[in-house]
Amino acid sequence: MNPLPEFRYTDGGAMLLDGNALRDLTVERLRAKLDQAGSPEVCLATVLVGDDGPSQIYVKMKHRKATEAGMVSRGVELAASATQHEVEQAVAELVADPSVHGILVQLPLPDHLDAESVLALLPPEKDVDGLTDRSLGRLVRGLPGHAPCTPLGVMRLIESYGIETVGKRAVVIGRSTLVGLPQMLLLGRKGCDATVTLAHSRTSDLIEVCRHADIIVAAAGQAGMITRDHVQLGATVIDVGVSRSESGIVGDVCFDEVQSVAGAITPMPGGTGPMTIACLLENTVSAAGMLGVSALTLS
Ligand code: GUN
Repeated sequence: MNPLPEFRYTDGGAMLLDGNALRDLTVERLRAKLDQAGSPEVCLATVLVGDDGPSQIYVKMKHRKATEAGMVSRGVELAASATQHEVEQAVAELVADPSVHGILVQLPLPDHLDAESVLALLPPEKDVDGLTDRSLGRLVRGLPGHAPCTPLGVMRLIESYGIETVGKRAVVIGRSTLVGLPQMLLLGRKGCDATVTLAHSRTSDLIEVCRHADIIVAAAGQAGMITRDHVQLGATVIDVGVSRSESGIVGDVCFDEVQSVAGAITPMPGGTGPMTIACLLENTVSAAGMLGVSALTLS
């Protein structure tokens, strides 16, 4: 468990769930863990196809933070014109390489490529993004494996800031396999024990559903959809939405108005985004343990 980040509050009095601070603490903790284990080589490999600007930035950040945590990172870059066979070949080589512990295929892939067939090559141990059918199946069945990094990052914010979950009402908005569905499973599983409602674009009277929630996780990708009317006094509001607008990246939550009623809230940016990277690193260290890097197998 991470030490607690410093508590800070918004102007409206909500506790700020600071993803940057918690990510930095996670990086420090992982670095200390690797040092203590005698600095074994733990390797995260990324596969980036094409020249999408945001994807390049995300991958660069993942490499930077992996290095800060004391890991080795390897980047495989392929041209936007790469064929399905070339991409699958590159992934298969990383899968077969015993010095690689975690593999991340940056999404989206260019339109002519079939991402599902590429992801299907990843064994659950090396699927540190937790995105494949097998990883999600393991999550559903409660078997060891890697949970997807964004919903896992939300759980780390909740745990680290001491947000109560047992018996609490949680509403997750959005039913994607990347965030909403695994988020529902993580909040509802034994030990966390929230009672979870999964809301989506066809939910009628979302305000009424949300107003009874102790925890709201907004992952619909609809800019500013959660207003103060959706939030009960003191609720925890976590924003996973990412939309591009003229004023930059915006989340699903109207931060300015919600922070005056919420008990705790994530900033955007600086909330769930950095925690996605923190959990990628956490999953990579755990992958190394699963794959037999001996000093890491015990904890
Ligand atoms: N593209 C945007 N976010 C992510 C992520 O978390 N993982 C992968 N693989 N691709 C992404």
